[in-house]
Amino acid sequence: MTTASDFDVLYRALDAEFGALGELEPRSVLRDWMTAGDRSTPVRGVVARWFGFLATEGGELLGARDVYGVIDEATGAAVTFLSHTWVAPHARRSGWGTKLRRAAVGAVSSWVKGRGGRPPQTFAEMGHRDPNDVASSTRLDAYARAGFRAFDPAGLPYAQPDFSGGDRPVPLLAIVDGDAGDPQVATLALCVHRTWLPGAAIDAIVDHVRGARETPRTVDLNDPACLRVRAQPHYPATWWR
Ligand SMILES: CC(C)(COP(=O)(O)OP(=O)(O)OC[C@H]1O[C@@H](n2cnc3c(N)ncnc32)[C@H](O)[C@@H]1OP(=O)(O)O)[C@@H](O)C(=O)NCCC(=O)NCCS
Repeated sequence: MTTASDFDVLYRALDAEFGALGELEPRSVLRDWMTAGDRSTPVRGVVARWFGFLATEGGELLGARDVYGVIDEATGAAVTFLSHTWVAPHARRSGWGTKLRRAAVGAVSSWVKGRGGRPPQTFAEMGHRDPNDVASSTRLDAYARAGFRAFDPAGLPYAQPDFSGGDRPVPLLAIVDGDAGDPQVATLALCVHRTWLPGAAIDAIVDHVRGARETPRTVDLNDPACLRVRAQPHYPATWWR
């Protein structure tokens, strides 16, 4: 996706789903990513790139997805950081979510390979399972089906930085594709937000991730550890809105 009009379509779709939740970067931030191509982050040696995807059929918009690829050029470590995805309600359960995710993972893998990085680990941030919010279960079920697991929030209390630049990070589950994950993949993913947020807005989260004494266990996305009410005590009180 490279044209300005495609970008507008993508941003509108993602903004309608995630904007009010404070989980979407401002339009200007994503526009900058699109026009920049490969981009050095403020973290030395870490290069990243943003990709956007649209699913259409006969001119009708069926879905949108965005993703970051991140490489630490010193070590070759790389991450596919799945960012947002949305499928039009009438098109759900038809495989579009899966196709968009595969397209994103494929694009980042090719990009990382082309820059000499190691095969990337796929990472995403996801809301906890909330019994009062069907949508939270829908997305976790979709990622569980695709083979994703969560770092137990007791071991890795992850959060998305406060996109308003303040000091109220949004606690989220850190999920990874596969059984095992390196928790440092989360710190590599956070590098993309250092291009537009003050470092202080991210440092608290990085400290928590680095504070993990040992590799935290990963749990099934159906595990009670993924419930919002269970996860809450593991985060500093200021991280909850
Ligand atoms: C999550 C979302 C992207 C899934 O899109 P989708 O096109 O329906 O996904 P797929 O058709 O590829 O589904 C793949 C598998 O996920 C699981 N799944 C998807 N929706 C599910 C649901 N409502 N209940 C249970 N399992 C579900 C199923 O196992 C499904 O395979 P199956 O249909 O063969 O059983 C879509 O529901 C959505 O846009 N939700 C709102 C936005 C959102 O929450 N985005 C994710 C956070 S970034």
